[in-house]
Amino acid sequence: MATIIDGKATAASVISKVKADAAELASLTGVRPGLAVVIVGEDPASHAYVNSKSRMAKECGFNSIQHTLPEDTGQATLEGLVDTLNSDPTVHGILVQLPLPRHLDAEAVLRLISPEKDVDGLHVVNAGKIATGDLKTGLISCTPAGAMLLVNEIHGADLSGLNAVVVGRSNLFGKPMGLLLLAANATVTMAHSKTNGLASICRNADVLVAAVGRPQMVKADWVKPGATVIDVGINRMIVEGRSRLVGDVAFEEVADVAGAITPVPGGVGPMTIAMLMANTVTAASRAGATTSRSSVGSESSFVSALPN
Ligand code: GUN
Repeated sequence: MATIIDGKATAASVISKVKADAAELASLTGVRPGLAVVIVGEDPASHAYVNSKSRMAKECGFNSIQHTLPEDTGQATLEGLVDTLNSDPTVHGILVQLPLPRHLDAEAVLRLISPEKDVDGLHVVNAGKIATGDLKTGLISCTPAGAMLLVNEIHGADLSGLNAVVVGRSNLFGKPMGLLLLAANATVTMAHSKTNGLASICRNADVLVAAVGRPQMVKADWVKPGATVIDVGINRMIVEGRSRLVGDVAFEEVADVAGAITPVPGGVGPMTIAMLMANTVTAASRAGATTSRSSVGSESSFVSALPN
């Protein structure tokens, strides 16, 4: 039976460091981290995620602001709100919850967010920094940063000699995850819906990361014995008449083959919110450092959380 990677415990330790950094920042500079979360429309799953983000921001002692806009909000209104948040000095982090309603151009909105406040790490400046190997001065997308810390818990910070396979190539997760694994010296394969022979590619992985949005797609015979399996899927399924969250990995059978595996829920999920809080305190510290000599947490929170 595989080691079950406890994302809740790791997230809790990230959060306690965030709280300490936020308190120290406030006492040294008077800066209180501010996180603005913007949601457009009524999607219940998105509202649930956004509420957890806002709640955790309050728990960390942040100034937590939520903007809930109606489904029929126009592009100009949304862009106007982002402009206002960009120029508000009490706001250090801006997150526009995705997906946006189909009539809105999400890429244009993400491009407008000031890179220094882009706590989602989705602006091309921050995406470009990871792509060029600069993990220190930008902000790294929260779910890949959190998933990577779980990989580091098992393998340490240096993945030299290990084969990593990421299934999924989204801007939100797959691409930055592949780049973080590469920066840690893994040999990386990015697989996706058009890949031939997916099962045999996955069987080559020492670190297998599944982010496909298909419930329990990764089966035991896709997994190399002893591999580390990171499940990024969150799918709602009816099992024996009850609604359950399941990942992209068939957990029970894969746990018999893998060396270590993240559960769903309780694996990568809690890490996403923890890294969002960490990015927010990093962004606030950098803003504070421009007005004082404090440098609390001003290095990227991802780098400061890496094992030595
Ligand atoms: N929707 C699902 N996950 C995320 C995320 O990490 N950031 C944003 N902005 N939207 C999401």
